[in-house]
Order: sequence, then structure tokens, then C-alpha cells
Amino acid sequence: AEALRVGIAGLGTVGASVVRLLARQENALAARCGRGVRVTAVSSRDRTRDRGFDLNRYTWFDDPVALAGSDEVDCVVELIGGADGPAKATVERAIATGKHVVTANKALLARHGLALARAAEQKGVALAFEASAAGGIPVVKTLREALAGNTITRIYGILNGTCNYILSRMETDGLSFAECLRDAQRLGYAEADPTFDVGGFDTAHKLAILTSLAFGTELDAEAIYIEGISSIAPIDIKMADELGYRIKLLGVAERTKTGIEQRVHPTMVPKSSAIAQVMGVTNAVTIDADAVRELTLVGPGAGGDATASAVISDIADVASGAVGAPFGRPVDRLDKPQRAPM
Ligand code: HSE
Repeated sequence: AEALRVGIAGLGTVGASVVRLLARQENALAARCGRGVRVTAVSSRDRTRDRGFDLNRYTWFDDPVALAGSDEVDCVVELIGGADGPAKATVERAIATGKHVVTANKALLARHGLALARAAEQKGVALAFEASAAGGIPVVKTLREALAGNTITRIYGILNGTCNYILSRMETDGLSFAECLRDAQRLGYAEADPTFDVGGFDTAHKLAILTSLAFGTELDAEAIYIEGISSIAPIDIKMADELGYRIKLLGVAERTKTGIEQRVHPTMVPKSSAIAQVMGVTNAVTIDADAVRELTLVGPGAGGDATASAVISDIADVASGAVGAPFGRPVDRLDKPQRAPM
């Protein structure tokens, strides 16, 4: 078979890692997928930055929407970010012109995921988004595929690496909130606008995606109660510590008698609990389900290579033709979400 031609829209921390990892895994991917996987085109705002590879090997597009419409690519990887603007236009153009789409964009999916999934289904192209929730943890495929034989009752966890990094370092190194946030930005964990991290919105975007996959319901990001960590001070962490607790920003979705409840807020967890041991940029997701009972996935929630790992798993699925319906079932077969009163 002919090689899958991949266009990368966005060469920030994650995009640059995807290009480097694809080159490193070229032979293994070809063997796994039964065909080659080749980056043919790239697009970014900044052509001058040194990313450790030669940009001249790829067709350059100043405009990601033009890359998406180009007949030099079969699969568009959207790593621009943002719920609207160029990211949305790029994904829409890709689908409209019959390209498969891989995206890490949780904000885009939380707001427009259903419409995009419907458009992709109508066009018969893939919309894959393993990297959109919990970075390197394969939680999307776990929910969509591996747990198909289960009824899920609850899903919760630490879904934002930046917040967990800040809370961890405030405790272990006694640093201020602002210092920890600066380090998280320097390490490439934070969103372009870190308000999305510390305000709890990024956790909410990811939770909305996971809720839809876990419960087979339409995405409902509007229904989420959101409280971030910006007002957590060293004194709060110290008080929690003295009482035997740690503060974690959790996203929780559970089926209650009256519907599905989704919430994001700082939570005091006993220091002896498993979730309290999750420190730094690490994320953790616990799933309660009837057949497996309880399952916890722990791993890197942000960062270039960890997130690129998830992006590449989707590219490999596209190359080998192994991508099903975006939310595990056709959009029209998702239940209408029933919000639990809070
Ligand atoms: N800013 C996000 C985080 C990146 O810190 O978790 C991964 O989605």
C-alpha cells in the first residue's frame, strides 16, 4: 500500500515532538501498519525557530487551512489549540476535503466535538483524539474499545498536569504559586493561556470528552461545575497536610439516580490514598465499572513526547484503517445527557 501522507498543523511543543518521534519510529510503524507513514507537509506561525529537524524536507504552509485542503496529505494532525479560530477552520476543511483528522485539541472537542464527529462520519473519515485527554495515558482507547463489555458508573482523576505540578511543588519545595506556574510554562506543560489550566477549564474540557466516552452520552461541557486552583495558598496546603490530607484538582463524572453529574474542583484527599501519591505532571484516571470493578491508569499528563505518543497511536490507527466511530458509536446513537442537579 502507499504511504500515509501526514500534514502537521502546529509545530509547538507537541507538534515538533510528533515529527521527531515519527522519524524515529518510521520502520516500526511501517511494519505495524502495513504501509509507511510519512510527514509531507507542515504549518506553523514561526518558521525560524530551531526544532531539531530540517523544515525544508516538508512542504511549508503559512496557513494551516491551506495545508488541510492540500492534496499532498491524507491525514491532518491538528496541534494548533483553541476552541475556535484556525484550529476549528483547519479541522473543518480537512473533513470537508475528505482527510482523516487526528487532534489533541480538547477545547475544540469539548465545544464542537459532536458536530465534528457527525461531519467526519458523513464523510467517512476518521476523527481521532487520544491525545486530547490525560496526555500520554491511553484513556480514550481504553474507554472506547477496551471497556466495551462494561457499564461504567464513575470516572474521576487528575487530568491537568500543570495544576498537579503546581500543587506538588508548592508542597514539596515550598515555592509560591507564581513560581510553580512559571516552571510549568517553561517545561511546556501549560496551555498558551494558563488560565485554562489553573482555572479548571482544561480539566473540564477533558472531563467532558471522557464522560461522553464513558457513559455513551452527548458531550455536555456546559453542565460542568468548575472551580480551579488559583486561590489555593501555601497556608491551605499546610493546613491540609497537618490534617493528613493533600489538595488535588479532580475532575469527576458519575451516574447518579437523577442523571450524570460532572464537576471539577480542588479536593482534599487522604495522604494514604493512591491518588495522593500522584505527584508532578503525572495524571491519573480511575474508572469504576461493573466487570473490571476498578481500574486506574497513571502516567504523564502533559509534555511534548508523552502527548506525541498518543498522537502517533492515532496516526497508526489511521494508517492501518483501525479507527471506528469517534465516540465509540455513531453520534446519532449517543444518549441525550441527563444532568444531575447540583
Ligand atoms: N496544559 C495541559 C496540562 C496540557 O497541563 O495538563 C495537556 O493537555
